[in-house]
Amino acid sequence: MAGGATTERFNPKSQPSSLPRLPCDQNGSGRTFGDEELRAVSEVLEAGVLTSTKGSFVRALESEFAETIGTRHAHACSSGTSAIHAAVAAIDPEPGEEIIVSPVTDMGALTPVLYQGAIPVFADVDPVTGNLTAETIQERISDRTRAIMVTHLFGNPCDMEPIMSLAGRHQLPVIEDCAQAFLASTEGANLGTLGAVGCFSLQQGQHVTCGEGGLVVTANADLSRRLRLFINKAWGYGDPDPDHYFLALNSRMSELQGAVALAQTRKATDSVDHRVHMAELLTHRLRGCPGITPPLVAPGQRHAYWRYAMLVQPDVIPGGASALAERLQAAGVACAPHYVGKPAFACKVIAEQRTFGNSRFPFTLARDEATDYRPERFRGTHKFLEDVLVLPWNESLQSAHVEFMATSIESAATTLRDEASRVLASSVSC
Ligand SMILES: Cc1ncc(COP(=O)(O)O)c(C=O)c1O
Repeated sequence: MAGGATTERFNPKSQPSSLPRLPCDQNGSGRTFGDEELRAVSEVLEAGVLTSTKGSFVRALESEFAETIGTRHAHACSSGTSAIHAAVAAIDPEPGEEIIVSPVTDMGALTPVLYQGAIPVFADVDPVTGNLTAETIQERISDRTRAIMVTHLFGNPCDMEPIMSLAGRHQLPVIEDCAQAFLASTEGANLGTLGAVGCFSLQQGQHVTCGEGGLVVTANADLSRRLRLFINKAWGYGDPDPDHYFLALNSRMSELQGAVALAQTRKATDSVDHRVHMAELLTHRLRGCPGITPPLVAPGQRHAYWRYAMLVQPDVIPGGASALAERLQAAGVACAPHYVGKPAFACKVIAEQRTFGNSRFPFTLARDEATDYRPERFRGTHKFLEDVLVLPWNESLQSAHVEFMATSIESAATTLRDEASRVLASSVSC
C-alpha cells in the first residue's frame, strides 16, 4: 500500500472527474497502513504477548522513535494527553504553581496541568502563526511560574531560540507539545529535543499513528525515570526493592498499538517529506491570491504540515474565513474556519472551573491575574482565530489534489470579492 513518499500514490482517475475526492486521514485513503503494519500486528497476536511490560514492540518503538527524533529516551503511552500528563508530572509542580500555556491548542495539552494541581496561565499568541512567542510568554512569568509549555501549532515551529533563552534566564523547564509537529525542526534540530521534554500524539490524524497513543521524549536521565514511572503507576520495574513511589496512573501503550506505531515510525520520514513537498506546492500556487496569506515559515525552520493553515483577510475577501470555508466545502474541499473556534480558556472546563466535584480546585489557588482572560490581553489570539482557515493535510495528497484545492480557493475568493463589488455598485447606483 505504501509507496515512495513523493510518488503519485493516490490515483485521481478512480475519482469522479467533476469533483475530485480528496484523501482523508480519518480513513485509509490518507494513511500509509499496509503490509508492514499487518505483519507486525499478526506477530504480536501469534506470540500472544499484548502487554508492553513483557513484549518487545513498544520497547523497539521507544528506541527507534528516540533515534529518529535525535534524543536519548522515549516513553510510549496511551495518548498525546497522557504524554503531556507524564511531562507535567515529571516536572512535579507544587499545587497552585503556574505553567504558561497557549490558548490555541487541544484541550489534551491543558487538562493534565489541572490534574497535577497546577494553574494553566495563558499567554497570547502571534496573530500570524498562532504560536506563543518569547515576548508573550515573558508578560505572564510570575514568581509562581514553574514551567513553560509551547505548542508548535499545525507543525510550524515556535521561535525557540528566544524562548529557550528566556526560560534559561528564569530557570524554567520547557515542555514542547509536538503533537502536531513530528519531524518539524529548527536550525536542523528536531522539535521535541530543544526543551526539557517533548510530547507527541499518535492519534488517528497525526503524522505517525496507531489510532490512539503518545510518546514523551527527553535527554535528561532523571526526567526519563520519572516519565517511565508515571506511565507505570509509579511502580519501580526492575528496581531491587520496587514500590509505588508516588501518585500516578497506568497510561501504558499495548503491544498491538506499538506494532502499528513502529511500522508507521519507519515510514514517517518519507511521509513528512511528502507533506512538506505538497504544502510548498500549494503555497507557491496561492502566492499572489489577494486576501490569502499562506503559512509563514521563518528561515531555518521546517514546518511539518500536520495541517495547512492560511489566513483570510476579511477586508479583502468579504465574510473572511467563514464565507470562504462555506464555498470551499460546497466545492468538495474539506476545511475548518477558525480552527478550534474559541480560545481554550473560553471552554467550560476552564471558564467555569469545572474540575473536582464543586471544589474548583486547583483554580482556588490561582492569583486573580492568572485567570484574567479579558480580550484585550489576548488580541493576537482573537485575531488569529478569526482569520485562520485550516485545510486537512496528509501524505496521500498528490499534485492534482493540490491544484484542485488551489483553483477552488482562488475561484471562491474571486466570487466573494465580485459579489461584494456588485452589491456595492448597486447600492451606489440606487
Ligand atoms: C497540540 C495538541 N496537543 C495535545 C493533543 C492531545 O493528543 P491526544 O488526542 O492524542 O490525547 C493534541 C491532539 O490532537 C494536539 O493537537
